Amino acid sequence: MPSAAPPVDPRLDLFAEIDRLRQQRRAVILAHYPQDPDIQDLADHLGDSLELAKRARDARDAEVILFCGVHFMAETAKIVNPKKVVVIPDLEAGCSLAEQCPPERLRAWKRAHPDHHVVMYINCSAGTKAESDIICTSSNAERVIRSIPAGKPILFGPDKNLGAWLVKETGRPMDLWPGACMVHETFSSRKIAALQAKHPDAKFIENPECEDHVLVLADFVGSTSRLLEFVQRDPGTKYIVGTELGILHTMHKAAPHKELIPVPYEDRTAACQGCNQCPHMKRNTIEKIYLALRDLRPRIELPEDVRARALLPLERMLALG
Ligand code: 13P
Repeated sequence: MPSAAPPVDPRLDLFAEIDRLRQQRRAVILAHYPQDPDIQDLADHLGDSLELAKRARDARDAEVILFCGVHFMAETAKIVNPKKVVVIPDLEAGCSLAEQCPPERLRAWKRAHPDHHVVMYINCSAGTKAESDIICTSSNAERVIRSIPAGKPILFGPDKNLGAWLVKETGRPMDLWPGACMVHETFSSRKIAALQAKHPDAKFIENPECEDHVLVLADFVGSTSRLLEFVQRDPGTKYIVGTELGILHTMHKAAPHKELIPVPYEDRTAACQGCNQCPHMKRNTIEKIYLALRDLRPRIELPEDVRARALLPLERMLALG
């Protein structure tokens, strides 16, 4: 059972305390776009998975990296910058994709395909990264696939939707692991098509983790940062945004005159109140950020052999620029 976070004195000004502790601990706060607006606003660096991995690697002056994202992202920070204390507000902030491809199952898949090159999406555990030849994110996946010598067969995981999109974009056949993101797979093409009919002047932009029947409706596909850039530079004024809801906060700030419409989703369970929000990302709160900086835990710790083996495929990705 995960232990409950201790209560925080409600009279504390947590934003001021976080600033004080950030200085005292020489901490850098990294945040991914699906974080709540308050967390995005207090971060030292906000970015997509690739940008945050680079920020973590380059955090030379900091002693502590506080990663406001999910577990595999904080693990990645520890892999690329092992001397730092890496803390995450909530150790239970996982990832549906990472859960679906544990290292032992990847090892079995590799044994069945011994001549294949293994490309894993960064949304996987350190143990799974350690079994991979190269890592990719949604912003560099095409480049990573194109870097693999022609004729070399490829295993791609854990996201079958990103994988299928890459097969289409690059023309490169790949064997795909049957995983999917619990948020992006709820998006409804029927409801999005209805929104497009209602707003014919809107462009539909989305993350490649969406299913093919949703991706075919897109005007632009890219990582969270690429979607943000697109909204800023595109001459249009209205966008249907097909990714986790959190990015809309920064999009509104970056392009205040543009209209942003979040995607509708299929209510696949009666209990779902907001399927376009990642429940793992939303475990991180201001209270937990304060506690993580105060107590320097929960910390990310990795066996050194796993860390060292996971670093190689990450370095191969980062070397591609
Ligand atoms: P990126 O950080 O590559 O945009 O990942 C997207 C994602 O996980 C969206 O929820």
